[in-house]
Amino acid sequence: MQTTFKIRRFEPPDLEQVMHTNRTCLPENYSSFFFTDLYKRFPATFIVGEENGKVVGYAMCRIERGIPSFKILGLTKKGHLISIAVLPEYQRRGIGYALMREVMQGMLLYEATECFLEVRVSNTAAINLYEKLGFRIVRTKRSYYANGEDAYLMSRKLPFTSMEPLS
Ligand SMILES: CC(C)(COP(=O)(O)OP(=O)(O)OC[C@H]1O[C@@H](n2cnc3c(N)ncnc32)[C@H](O)[C@@H]1OP(=O)(O)O)[C@@H](O)C(=O)NCCC(=O)NCCS
Repeated sequence: MQTTFKIRRFEPPDLEQVMHTNRTCLPENYSSFFFTDLYKRFPATFIVGEENGKVVGYAMCRIERGIPSFKILGLTKKGHLISIAVLPEYQRRGIGYALMREVMQGMLLYEATECFLEVRVSNTAAINLYEKLGFRIVRTKRSYYANGEDAYLMSRKLPFTSMEPLS
């Protein structure tokens, strides 16, 4: 299929369309302050997908310090995917994959050695996307979501170069 979308960093005028996409696609919604704060602190990992000048998807992250999921001693910087969504009518065209590639490139600018996220155990579409990108399930977080559903904690090492499996 021909690729017509564009992937770029979030800019403040995108806020309304990003919040609309978030509310349309996910039950976890945030204030405008929350979005703007992540953009100001980590602009290289707040990415949008645009089609004909319209924002149709986004991914945003936070860089955190923590214990690595892989065999590195000591604390490390980790990129935490906070939220990703693509409007339903634009899904299944590679936008989610392209957003994730771009945020993982951005995480390298903050010297993150790993990217991790939480995902509903029932969210097959998202789990497939992350597995295609080399993420693996690290563990289950019981009753992580407001409705009591469990989350998988998924992670992969950075840098992201291809679809190589985790070592
Ligand atoms: C998850 C989401 C962001 C994927 O976006 P997308 O642009 O449709 O994803 P892509 O087109 O890049 O798909 C990449 C891969 O993801 C997987 N995938 C995507 N949608 C899928 C679906 N409906 N069913 C099964 N696998 C799916 C496939 O492996 C796909 O590769 P393929 O097309 O070669 O089979 C999108 O479905 C979405 O916004 N969902 C609602 C919000 C959400 O659940 N966010 C994640 C919260 S953790």
